[in-house]
Amino acid sequence: MISKQTIDKIFSAVRVEEIIGEYVQLKRAGSNFKGLSPFHDEKSPSFVVSPSKQIWKDFSSGKGGTAISFLMEIENFTYPEALRYAAKKYGIEIEEDKRELTEEQKQAQTDKELLYKIHEIANDFFQHQLFETEEGTTIAYSYFKERELRDDIIKKFQLGYSPEQRNAFTEFALNKGYSKDILEKSGLSIFPENAPNGIDRFRERVLFPIHSFSGRVLGFGARILKNNIKTAKYLNSPETEIYHKSSVLYGLSQGKQAISKANLCLLVEGYMDVIALHQSGIDNVVASSGTALTVDQIKLIKRLTENVTILFDGDPAGIKASFRSIDLLLAEEMNIRILLFPDGDDPDSFSRKHPQDYVEDFIKTQAKDFIDFKAEILLKEAGDDPIKKAESIRNIVKSVAFVKNALKQEVYLKEVATKFGLSEQSLFNELNVQKQIQNQQFSPQQRSEQQQIRPKLEIVPATALLLNPLLELEEKLVKHMLNFGDRVLEKSDADNQPFKITVIEEIISHFNEDNYEPQSPINQKIIEELKNGLVNNEIIQSNFFLTLMDETIVSKVSNAIIGDEELSNWEKSNIFPPKPGDKLEVEIEDDILIHKSHFIEKMIYDIVKKLDAVRDEDPAEYYESVKKIMILKSLLNEINKKLNRQLTKGHSFFKEQKL
Ligand code: UTP
Ligand code: MN
Repeated sequence: MISKQTIDKIFSAVRVEEIIGEYVQLKRAGSNFKGLSPFHDEKSPSFVVSPSKQIWKDFSSGKGGTAISFLMEIENFTYPEALRYAAKKYGIEIEEDKRELTEEQKQAQTDKELLYKIHEIANDFFQHQLFETEEGTTIAYSYFKERELRDDIIKKFQLGYSPEQRNAFTEFALNKGYSKDILEKSGLSIFPENAPNGIDRFRERVLFPIHSFSGRVLGFGARILKNNIKTAKYLNSPETEIYHKSSVLYGLSQGKQAISKANLCLLVEGYMDVIALHQSGIDNVVASSGTALTVDQIKLIKRLTENVTILFDGDPAGIKASFRSIDLLLAEEMNIRILLFPDGDDPDSFSRKHPQDYVEDFIKTQAKDFIDFKAEILLKEAGDDPIKKAESIRNIVKSVAFVKNALKQEVYLKEVATKFGLSEQSLFNELNVQKQIQNQQFSPQQRSEQQQIRPKLEIVPATALLLNPLLELEEKLVKHMLNFGDRVLEKSDADNQPFKITVIEEIISHFNEDNYEPQSPINQKIIEELKNGLVNNEIIQSNFFLTLMDETIVSKVSNAIIGDEELSNWEKSNIFPPKPGDKLEVEIEDDILIHKSHFIEKMIYDIVKKLDAVRDEDPAEYYESVKKIMILKSLLNEINKKLNRQLTKGHSFFKEQKL
């Protein structure tokens, strides 16, 4: 866990306009910056960054937040990932909060940090070897050139070279002060008894660093330079404390933005396929790199998109692998298409033969849905044999059984029925058989794990506000507290004695007076925090909420403190409309009263709803209820009077009360 001090340090160092400036072209607009939304294709800018408030808002999607939440949104980082990324950018050292860890856990933490560090150093070392040494340039760099890789692509993927000398890197790292123990744990060095100075795992190979989602180096893939040597073509990092090959996808770090923007992830087999596609301008691609696709890997993709197109070369092993992947992807509720490349081509060779447009178009038009794909492969195999043919259909229905969404499942089943001219009923029976088999194979725990999804932001839709005036006013009051919480209001009490009170105190005491329960859970949380602050004599400011780890609160608060008026360029045309907060006293008094009146209306409504039921059963209670209604109505009248005095004529907030 990142310590609170570090989090505070990061938030005070980070400049929202600098972070966003790397993704969006920002132009000054009054006191703000404006640009085109990076989340939507748009022609007129609706993306606003406020340097004074240190927040951003995308008016086209309603999203907004801090620099950190921007990183989470655009890079699809988790909160800690975004913090680490920002810390690195601003040169802030991360302090881990280890108070609650045991000694053993602390040691593991330290080891992990060292492992990340040593991979960073190794990555630099290998790149240096490739570009700056004679051996590197003559052997490895020229190899990449032979494979027609451009320099910018070699740099983008941070490709490197490990020299022939058997302990070049190990020696380098030992001299830098890294221990044998940590070198061994990293998998980069081996220390056999007969070689106490250590041996490098990777020698005389070109290196492909494998990055985490957020771009940290976790391990390497290493390819031999000559094709005829009888050792394995690729040597990969072993499993370590930081590298778990089943939960890593090659190319994810470089491709995640493109995947999210295209809302599609291309899935290929090898390192070179990913790199070659990038070189031809197709960036939304990852590789499972030698392992069969796993559920963890699918979850990584799912952070970005639910659509996957599998690109396989047509060898039988590849096709088999794709069958397994198809079922796994379907079970994870992904939409999939499959593309088989023509005779002997893989994505690497194909994308080097054809221009980008052609490749893109080929992928778009030639990819088949899984039913057509499996049918084509299996039926070719089955020939005219009716038994084999039935077996093929069963195999396809098996895949359909993995689809969780009932509606989708039915659509797929219909497709199979039409395709083979079979009755839906017989297929449906087969489907149920397959489902039963699957249920036996998956343990309940596995199933519940599969159901975990990232919570989506809770955004209160505008229509909900219109239908619930009480919530609308609650929103307004919370907004006042977030924007002007510490502003002092001059008021006078019942005896006309002047006194001062802050906006937060004023509004919170209104809530307390009525024992008001907030309508929305987020407001509830915010009000709770503000109340706690008051108990400790503190006026909590909106910044407090922005550093919380709660995405929904951060989004809510930043939306509250960046208003719609920030989108228009009034200053430019020398028009200065009243700023919110200019007439705070009146505004807040009105809003409290209006809120109160809606609250009373709701109470009346709640009682009326139950009135019919109690009329005959419990006359005493009926009488009580009617009395309550009378009192509430007279209260409401009083408030209305006050408001009518204060509000401009013809601007009534009250509808006819139906009683
Ligand atoms: P490929 O043989 O298709 O490799 O294996 P490639 O990446 O396209 O490499 P080139 O074109 O020969 O240079 C597909 C993937 O399987 C894994 C690697 O991750 C590779 O990218 N693999 C393959 C290994 O891990 N070890 C091997 O010996 C071979
Ligand atoms: Mn290849």
